[in-house]
Amino acid sequence: MNITVIGTGYVGLVAACCLANSGHQIVAVENNMDKLGQLQKGVIPIYEEGLDGIFQKVTGDGRLSFTDNIKEALVNSTMVIIAVGTPSLGDGRVDLSQVNDVAKSIVTYVERPLTVVMKSTVPPGTGRLLCDRYFDKVGMNISYVFNPEFLREGKALYDWYNTDRIVIGGDQPGIAQQVMDIYSDIEAPKVCMDLTSAEMVKYASNAFLATKISFINEIANLCEKVGADIDIVATTVGMDQRIGQSFLQAGLGYGGSCFPKDTKALDYIALVNGYKFSLLKAVIEVNAGQRIIAVRKLMESLGCLTNKKIAVLGLAFKPNTDDIREAPAIDIIDHLISEGVQVRASDPLAIDNARKRFPNQVVEFIYDPYEACEGCEAVVLATEWEDYVKLNWADIKKRMVSPYVVLDGRNSLDRQLMQELGFIYRGIGRSYQYNK
Ligand code: UDX
Repeated sequence: MNITVIGTGYVGLVAACCLANSGHQIVAVENNMDKLGQLQKGVIPIYEEGLDGIFQKVTGDGRLSFTDNIKEALVNSTMVIIAVGTPSLGDGRVDLSQVNDVAKSIVTYVERPLTVVMKSTVPPGTGRLLCDRYFDKVGMNISYVFNPEFLREGKALYDWYNTDRIVIGGDQPGIAQQVMDIYSDIEAPKVCMDLTSAEMVKYASNAFLATKISFINEIANLCEKVGADIDIVATTVGMDQRIGQSFLQAGLGYGGSCFPKDTKALDYIALVNGYKFSLLKAVIEVNAGQRIIAVRKLMESLGCLTNKKIAVLGLAFKPNTDDIREAPAIDIIDHLISEGVQVRASDPLAIDNARKRFPNQVVEFIYDPYEACEGCEAVVLATEWEDYVKLNWADIKKRMVSPYVVLDGRNSLDRQLMQELGFIYRGIGRSYQYNK
């Protein structure tokens, strides 16, 4: 099938590459000329594990090409996938300006029957509004469906081919089947439903996962109060198959481009529809609190933080990505800077992005994690990069100065070893001391 993909962010680019890899002919539209230039030169502007290989293959075979011209791209397409940004407006509202602009372009340029597939996360009700406002108004036959993505950054290719379900929402009879066909090489339950229910599935899924994380973080905080150990508590609770092990890792809370934005959006959607989503409000509040709890732990161990040197290992919101959006490390660094801390930060992939976030040299960025810890009173492990977990911590300690505090924001380090090495070790809910 000839498909246009609009937007080449994490979602659009992965979709474009994977669909081209399945044999479809894809034209991807990007209006940021810097990004477009890179893509046309064969350079991927984001980091996503394994994507480069597929990208080189499908661009080399001529199955994926790039343009900034929607009109030209649509000429031969029978389907258009929208994967543009839907950022948060801060108060929870979702900025749909890019979606609206694309919808206007489509109805302006469409010259043949077209299926519009929305992959951007849009609030429940948006699809029906877009149909009323744009797609149902043109004489041309336009069908509209919502087809959410459930891709994790860093695991996006794996998730594309191994998804738990493919969801397609549409209000026109028969339309879902046509979209199913583009996923014919993927074995997964395919679930069809109405448009607004599909939009709700996406928000409800992310909100539930965020709820699991905030729940386990609250249990971890309580473990510290009563002297219990979150590691064994979470593992054992997760052994109940009705609960499951995943998303029970306590730490600094969730970040990234989806959970923070989508939980706030769902809370806002509830409010404007006259419903107070109390549980979700608590999930959001607990998540913000985890960052502050981390800073408080540093204060408990170091006293006044002013003029202290603290290393932050990990800037990305999770390992294997260069994405720092809503990353706990960024919030923690903001708090530390306002306390007058000299912050030395390291990350295997995200330093370039973090430099743009802290442009005025208030943070020293150092690629080598050992060097980053040089002369520091404390180290915060903010992202559980495998390289950081496996550091030679005895060597790190030699480079630090007293009182040698390690705040393990991801409960990823061997706490017994850290204590044996002479660190003041603080985890999240790991308060129980093993008998030595
Ligand atoms: C998420 C969803 O998983 C994906 O389905 C959706 O399409 C987009 O949002 P992503 O943001 O890439 O994907 O990250 P994910 O791996 O789900 O982790 C989100 C955040 O939660 C990270 O900051 C991670 O560190 C944190 N997390 C995750 C925890 O703190 N504890 C856990 O147990 C799991």
